[in-house]
Amino acid sequence: MTDSTRKILVTSALPYANGPIHLGHLVEYIQTDIWVRFQKQRGHQCTYVCADDAHGTPIMLKADQMGISPQELIDKVSQEHQRDFSGFMVGFDNYYSTHSEENQHFASLIYTALRDGGHIAKKTITQAYDPEKEMFLPDRFVKGECPKCGEPDQYGDSCEKCGATYSPVELKNAYSAVSGAKPIEKESEHYFFKLGDFEGFLRNWVDNHVQEQMIHKLNEWFEAGLQNWDISRDAPYWGFEIPDAPGKYFYVWLDAPIGYMASFKNWCDKNGANFDEYWSESSNAELYHFIGKDIAYFHTLFWPAMLEGAGFRKPNGVFCHGFLTVDGQKMSKSRGTFIMAETYLNHLRPEYLRYYFAAKLSSGIDDIDLNLEDFRMRVNADLVNKVINIASRCAGFIKKKFDGELASQLVEPELYTEAVAAGESIASAYENREYGKAMREIMAIADKANQYIDAAEPWVLAKQEGKEQEVQDCCTMGINLFRVILTYLAPVLPKVAEDAQAFLAVDDLAWNSIQQPLLSHKINKFKPLMQRVEEDKINAIIEETKEALAAAAAAAAPSPAPGPLQDEPVAETIEFPDFAKVDLRVALIAKAEHVKGADKLLQLTLDLGGETRNVFAGIKSAYNPEDLEGKLTVMVANLAPRKMKFGVSEGMVLAAGPGGKDLWILNPDEGAQPGMRIK
Ligand code: MSP
Ligand code: ZN
Repeated sequence: MTDSTRKILVTSALPYANGPIHLGHLVEYIQTDIWVRFQKQRGHQCTYVCADDAHGTPIMLKADQMGISPQELIDKVSQEHQRDFSGFMVGFDNYYSTHSEENQHFASLIYTALRDGGHIAKKTITQAYDPEKEMFLPDRFVKGECPKCGEPDQYGDSCEKCGATYSPVELKNAYSAVSGAKPIEKESEHYFFKLGDFEGFLRNWVDNHVQEQMIHKLNEWFEAGLQNWDISRDAPYWGFEIPDAPGKYFYVWLDAPIGYMASFKNWCDKNGANFDEYWSESSNAELYHFIGKDIAYFHTLFWPAMLEGAGFRKPNGVFCHGFLTVDGQKMSKSRGTFIMAETYLNHLRPEYLRYYFAAKLSSGIDDIDLNLEDFRMRVNADLVNKVINIASRCAGFIKKKFDGELASQLVEPELYTEAVAAGESIASAYENREYGKAMREIMAIADKANQYIDAAEPWVLAKQEGKEQEVQDCCTMGINLFRVILTYLAPVLPKVAEDAQAFLAVDDLAWNSIQQPLLSHKINKFKPLMQRVEEDKINAIIEETKEALAAAAAAAAPSPAPGPLQDEPVAETIEFPDFAKVDLRVALIAKAEHVKGADKLLQLTLDLGGETRNVFAGIKSAYNPEDLEGKLTVMVANLAPRKMKFGVSEGMVLAAGPGGKDLWILNPDEGAQPGMRIK
């Protein structure tokens, strides 16, 4: 380690532990990972930590719905997240969970310091409460008709149809998305962090630590005034209990960023490193957070203010990035562009996407577009045809004619020196997160290398008498330029770089190693380092994405009208495993309507506790739609969706009786909740 060795701690946002990693997330983790690999390659001591964000109401309810404990859910999701990240070569030094002892320790410590510093206020507020489930309802869990346009089934904060925003109490015919019950209003005392106490500090801090584009946004927030922030939630809540307030829990966003510290502490304990050296107020280590622009408020206001109030160091930078679009549009389930990390990896290697994102990324917060056609052409043109081609054009001659040995001199030393000199500008582009610029400069070197080889024509020389030396010389130039290029690309293409290192028979691809060219040096046999991206692979990803969606949606399947039950053939016996396949769930009949032109069917909107299904059921002879709304029933949730004359039916409602007026939908006992598994 030298004096100029920097100590750097880097984080990416902590993904929620209730859903899989998709390509949108990966913009961030790939962006961060490239930066970290670059710092390590430059010889700095850089540590990259992350964790699952494991608390909060959605995780609690999802576990409930799945019939498992929150701990089981977060353990399972953590495994999946880590599998996906490692599949994309995101090299965390530590991956942890916010549901950890360390995090509880730091959350309590910071809260206590804020309280003792006079920065916590208490106030009684009124909120929507689900009297059946006996819990307060976050806005997203109250649904009803939009107060403006009347659209049914809108969330408690905004209307997806007309875009109106409002508070949950304004919804008409509101119901709890958890139980279907009508919410009541209830008071409770909440704890608030007095963000306004830190306005002076924040105005100053923000100017020097966030991107230009973000400062404008932040100024709007300052103008609007810094409000007290509600950091408590009432039981039942999945999180940490507030030390001096039994029955009250920290809101998930209070302990989420503290998870950065906790993950790092966990790493320190495993590696004998000194936590305080990085987090004390006087620390000389650097700290950077990579985040999406949607969570800037938490990271550029709440977080630095909490650290300031509790006497910890503040970040040196909060780096926001934009959102991923696919083919110019928001990622979409129906278009098959809401692509999961796992789905992509079933068909393509991760480095194609790493390179494409790198080529598109800048230090700004603009959205970045994954254009699938451009992706394929760009990766093929740049990586396969340009970069890898340099080595494949030269390696064979060196191996065959010179037993793998490179020449003892560079015949075009200026060309080599120029490529090495470009390293400075490329390094500063990486450092400043201008990866697109770095990739352009690297490809310019690759272009020059190819032009050089085109002009030298080793394949022509190789057939001529007495040109052996020239062949060895020009291929030695080519291989040396290839080494420089791969050194520059190593943060983006870790596996290709590793394979190139083996081919070049060098100890590492450290940034400075290229100062010395490889001369009179034996290289190994060249194996193709990368295949072209084929169009059918991309199509397969889209298809698989659509299928996965259909399967999920269909976790409910359509029911044609059961019709008079006595007409049904008597089923033959089935084995237990067949029975076990049937996913029976409690469903809330959120809506029941007549179907135009159908004399037996009712169209039901079933709520499975967050997820809704459209089902056509042949029970019209027995029920008026209005009588069904708000009732619970039992449905087969994993019947494959079936296209019917009137639409797609995504499940089947269970009913019994001789038929006609005497047909009863199965009606579980009170206490059942939508989404609950039956068995
Ligand atoms: N759990 C919070 C973060 C807590 S950090 C203390 C969260 N989780 S998330 O899973 O929703 O998102 C994780 C990161 O991925 C965020 O920085 C978010 O901005 C980013 N992205 C999620 N979807 C994205 C795109 N479609 N495009 C780009 N980034 C996206 O927020
Ligand atoms: Zn509306």
